Amino acid sequence: MLPHKQIELRLQQAVRAVLPDADSSSVLVRPCPDPKFGDYQSNALMSVARARKLNPRHLATDVLAKLDVSEICEKVEIAGAGFLNFRLKNSSIAQTLEAAARGEHLFFEQAAHRRTVVIDFSSPNVAKPMHIGHIRSTILGDCLARSLRLLGHRVVTDNHIGDWGTQFGKLLIGWKKHLDRAGLKSDPIGEMERLYKLVNAASEADENVLEEARRELVNLQGGDAENLSIWREMIALSEKQFDEIYSRLGVKFDLSLGESFYNPRLNPLVDELLAGGIARESDGAIAIFFDDNPQLKAHPALIRKSDGGFNYTTTDLATLEYRLKTWRPDEIIYVTDGRQQLHFQQVFAAFRKWQPANSELRTPNSELKLAHVWFGSILGEDGRPFKTRSGETVKLADLLDEAEGRAYKIVSEKSPDLPEARRREIARVVGLGAVKYADLLPNRQSDYIFSWDKMLALNGNTAPYLQYAHTRIRSIFRKAEGTSNIEHRTSNIELKATEEIALAKLLLVFGLTLEAVAEEYRPNFLCNYLYDLAGKFTAFYENCPVLKADDATRASRLALCDLTARVLNQGLHVLGIETVEQM
Ligand code: ARG
Repeated sequence: MLPHKQIELRLQQAVRAVLPDADSSSVLVRPCPDPKFGDYQSNALMSVARARKLNPRHLATDVLAKLDVSEICEKVEIAGAGFLNFRLKNSSIAQTLEAAARGEHLFFEQAAHRRTVVIDFSSPNVAKPMHIGHIRSTILGDCLARSLRLLGHRVVTDNHIGDWGTQFGKLLIGWKKHLDRAGLKSDPIGEMERLYKLVNAASEADENVLEEARRELVNLQGGDAENLSIWREMIALSEKQFDEIYSRLGVKFDLSLGESFYNPRLNPLVDELLAGGIARESDGAIAIFFDDNPQLKAHPALIRKSDGGFNYTTTDLATLEYRLKTWRPDEIIYVTDGRQQLHFQQVFAAFRKWQPANSELRTPNSELKLAHVWFGSILGEDGRPFKTRSGETVKLADLLDEAEGRAYKIVSEKSPDLPEARRREIARVVGLGAVKYADLLPNRQSDYIFSWDKMLALNGNTAPYLQYAHTRIRSIFRKAEGTSNIEHRTSNIELKATEEIALAKLLLVFGLTLEAVAEEYRPNFLCNYLYDLAGKFTAFYENCPVLKADDATRASRLALCDLTARVLNQGLHVLGIETVEQM
């Protein structure tokens, strides 16, 4: 067990010894924000004391009297209004590192309560290219799935593809009247996009076109064989393109249940909501009103239009119901851009009216958590929405090509002697890594400026910098093998130099960082952790000779190098970023 966990357990026991009826589960131990005061800290006693009108410092003194952590920590200190500060003993840090070196853990633990989490992400639309806006959902959602899985949770990833909706009326007209088969063959999505734009423009000039589009849509919804078969072909062609991108990005989904999957459920669902008094008629349409919710009072959610058509919200409610029945999740996460905030507030509020906490669809003993994980926009260097030079939205495939191309140039300049195929492979890993990292590093809710030079830089908080730090450590081992055979994995760890201790202590909080990422849906915590780790490693390597040290020290330091490389590698992997042996 990791030291902070041991401290936490014993602290909880001590709290119960002093206050037998206290709920000690909220008594947590976290890294100390300022290392001056210690390595870990607990501020929980203050709220326990407040709840019982006790003096927090007195409570802390009583709890300390019952707390024995002497083999893990130096003397525990009470600070300020009743904080407890813990400083680890070097021997305890070394033991934890030795266990990691033996392969017993990598500074994280499986969650004590395994949760089932559904993640709805990427979700592009049929017949439209996946553009730069979809990249954030894809990269962010994938990273959340990876971190939750690593921590032992059961994760179901579902790509909620937009394969249903009014756009198909226009697309069907375009397909029937203007389809260029050759164009469809060479660039299917480009051709479908062309058709849509063509008919859309025509419909703006001519009411009749709009009417015709409506008829085609009604026929499609009514099951017309020709329209259905065209629609299926459009989906198949789009999914092929999406899959190419996903395989390049290394992103996998357990399911891709598009919006159309829920179609048969929409009518009965609206009828049920009407019958249950959850929804009511308003101007010929059906809507759910949120009179008791000040934020949503003015924003009823439409679920059936006056012409009988359904809304985005209707599909999302049917989707939620299906997910609850199928997986009994503890949590559902939706990853989209910030413009959909109102939509998800409505969906969540509607859901709570419809399925109160005691409903049979809900997981027993668990409050279903619904989270809209939203993000800001990607901007060009001019601070305006990121566009191509000719003013079009940037297509994801082109963007990835350019990333690899630019990385290839850099790799070829740095390592011209590597064979061409190697350089191409390194460029692929570095280019994709740079794009992903640039997307994950900023606070997700802020807009960020897309800058090739910044994201590909070899120094600074970038993927190439971290990938390079990883290869540097790997190269130490290539050199070490040249000099003698070292069994660094089973050696004793000795921690003497300040830089060595600082590095070791940072390794210890890898798991806490992963937990924070999964809990707050913020991969940037992990980016900053890895950047810090690479920096601490550099300081260590500059100040503590490794290969030139005497045998015992050298084995210990090699083990420290190896653990750092493994954490870097694992951390980058959670971000969806690969590493290479050489750059
Ligand atoms: N297809 C939508 C879009 O491109 C995103 C869908 C998000 N998921 C959901 N369950 N509404 O904007």
